[in-house]
Amino acid sequence: MEVIICPNAQRVGEVAAAKAARIAAPIGPKVVLGVATGSSPVQTFAELARLVASGDLDLSEASAFALDEYVGIPEGHPQSYHEIIRQTVTEPMGLDPARVHVPDGFADDLQAACQAYEDAITAVGGVDIQFLGAGSNGHIGFNEPTSSLSSRTRIKTLAAKTLEDNARFFDSIDDVPRHCLTQGLGTIMDARNVILVATGTGKAHAIAQIIEGPITAMYPGSVLQLHPHATIVVDSEAAAELSLIDYYKATYANLPEWQRLDV
Ligand code: GLP
Repeated sequence: MEVIICPNAQRVGEVAAAKAARIAAPIGPKVVLGVATGSSPVQTFAELARLVASGDLDLSEASAFALDEYVGIPEGHPQSYHEIIRQTVTEPMGLDPARVHVPDGFADDLQAACQAYEDAITAVGGVDIQFLGAGSNGHIGFNEPTSSLSSRTRIKTLAAKTLEDNARFFDSIDDVPRHCLTQGLGTIMDARNVILVATGTGKAHAIAQIIEGPITAMYPGSVLQLHPHATIVVDSEAAAELSLIDYYKATYANLPEWQRLDV
């Protein structure tokens, strides 16, 4: 696991995007992205869009797969993840909307929609770069505490903490959908590279557990300790409860030339 501590959220976005661009370069324009909603990856996606606009990153034939979607919210609803991904990923990065996928939380048969989603990821050969945020309870996607570490895309019930955290996007907490479809932890772990970003003190405890705690379904993001190519980029606030801060900083400052990011 590579841990990079940045001074602020803007820098987190720049570093995460530079890391992704480095991974994407040898893959070429057909790179398959895994994309997340939430506030965490907003700067990262904006920076990726800037790299596309400047010609430094070619996503002209890229596909994208969102992590999750609420159940029962129609596609055009401002809080549907279909809509958020359209605004933060598809349009700014100039992706072909036909190649951008979000689980269908409005399907009559939700279980079939989950299987179809897994099949669609398999059909393009899997995800090359999975972007992740983390919930304040350590969830990734909507894999709430006690999610199976080998779970696949399925229906989940949101934890009370997530309902509370996401209430800010709705008129009231009662309007937050209770159910969602989410890629499983096993699905996420199949991605060839993972980049998790987190900022702010509200994430400090979850980040410490994900990086330095035991691998446990109580902090689902801790499964990333088993991933061979996981990078976690955090600001100093989200890093506050880590015990090896000096080590992570020294490692990044002393990267060999060929590993250094161009930021
Ligand atoms: C949301 C999403 C996650 C996201 C997380 C954190 O509910 N399902 O994919 O990473 O919670 O959100 P934020 O980045 O806004 O803190």
